[in-house]
Amino acid sequence: MTKEIISKLAGENTPLYYYNLPLLRETISVAKNAADRYGYHIHYAIKANNNPRVLQEISKFGLGADCVSGYEIERAIDNGFKAEEVVFAGVGKTDREILTGLQNGILSFNVESVEELRVIGDLAKEHQLVGRIALRINPNVDAKTHHYITTGLDENKFGIMMHQLQTCVDIISENSFLELIGLHFHVGSQITDLNVYKRLCIKVNEWNTWFYERGYHIPILNLGGGLGINYAEPDEEAIVNFSNFFYLFHEFLDLRENQQVHFELGRSLVANCGTLVSRVLYIKEGIKKNFAILDAGMTELLRPALYQAYHKVELLSDKFIEQEEGKEVTKYDVVGPICESSDCFGKDVLLPKLQRGDLIGIRSAGAYGEVMSSRYNLRQELSYFFKE
Ligand code: LLP
Repeated sequence: MTKEIISKLAGENTPLYYYNLPLLRETISVAKNAADRYGYHIHYAIKANNNPRVLQEISKFGLGADCVSGYEIERAIDNGFKAEEVVFAGVGKTDREILTGLQNGILSFNVESVEELRVIGDLAKEHQLVGRIALRINPNVDAKTHHYITTGLDENKFGIMMHQLQTCVDIISENSFLELIGLHFHVGSQITDLNVYKRLCIKVNEWNTWFYERGYHIPILNLGGGLGINYAEPDEEAIVNFSNFFYLFHEFLDLRENQQVHFELGRSLVANCGTLVSRVLYIKEGIKKNFAILDAGMTELLRPALYQAYHKVELLSDKFIEQEEGKEVTKYDVVGPICESSDCFGKDVLLPKLQRGDLIGIRSAGAYGEVMSSRYNLRQELSYFFKE
C-alpha cells in the first residue's frame, strides 16, 4: 500500500475492506493467460467474494462463474457473467434455485445426489426446459488441508458415491430434458501441495475411462478449484504460480477427443487483493501479554476464529517510518471487540509499539472475508475502499 493510500485510509471509517483492483486485474489476467495456453476454462467461484465491484472486474475478462445458490446466479448475471457460462454446485439446491438455473439456461448443474438429479429432471420436464448436468464424483482424494475445507473424501457429504453413478446415467438417458455434459470434481480448498492434484488427475482419468468404455461422450471435465495461496508472504508472492498449476493438468490428464477442461477457482484469484483495515482501539497491558484491541473482529473476518487461519497482521503506517536501529517491537495478541475468546487475529504477533488510533492491515482477506462477515453483536455495516 502506498503512503498516499494510507493517508487516504486514515480519513475513512473503519473497519473497512480495501480492494486493490489493479492487483485483482493483474491476477485474473495472469490466471487467464496461463489457462488459455491449454484451452482451459475458468469459472470464478463467486462464493469467495461476491462484492459487485469485484465481480464486475472479473467478468470483464470473460471468465465463467461458479455459483452455489440462486442468489449467486442472479448476482453473477447482474454483474456481467454470462448465464451460459454459469455452473451451479451445492448439495442442497432448493426447487426455486433449480428453476433459477433452468430459466437462465446455465451451463450446468453440478449434481451431488441421485435424488437431486431426479428433482432437476422433474422440474425440467414440467417447465419444458433443458437441464445440463455434470455429475459430481467424490474421488476420495485427500486434499491435505484443514478438515473443515476438505471435500473429496468418502466421509464428506459432497458428490455422488461410485455405486450410484450407473443409476444417475440411467435417469439422464430416460429423460430427454436432461443432458449429461460433464463430470465434476472438487477435493478441497487452500491446497498448497500440488501432488494432491496429480492424484486427482489419476482418479479423473479412471472415471473418464469408465464413462468412455460405456459409450458416453463427456464434453467437459470440471476439476473444481482449491488452489492455495501464500498467506505468510502476501507481497513476495502476491500472485500464485498459475502456470505450474495448469501445466500439471496438461501433464497428467488423459483427455478423450473433444473434451474441454474447466476449473472453479476462488481464493487464488481474489485473496491477495483484499486487506481488512482496522484501527487500534485500545492497548491493554496484561500480566503475561499485551493485547491490541481492534475495531475489527471475527464479525468482519471469521477465518482465524473458525479455522485457526493465519493472516499477516501489519501496522500500515509503519512501512513508511525509517527503520531505526533497535526500534522498539512488542508482542501483541491482536484481538477484536466481539464477546468470544476465539475473536483473535493472532497471538504473540511482533509489531512496532502500537498506540490507540494506529491503522492495522489484516492481509489476504479478499477471499472468504467479506462474504463470511456477519452482524453478530449488531455490528456496524462494513465500509469499502477501492484502489482503482
Ligand atoms: N468449487 C467448489 C465445488 C467448492 O466447494 C469451492 C470452495 C470452490 C470451487 C472454490 O475453491 P477455492 O478455489 O476458493 O479454494 N471458507 C473457507 C473455504 C471454503 C471453500 C468452499 N468451497 C475458507 O475461508 O478457507
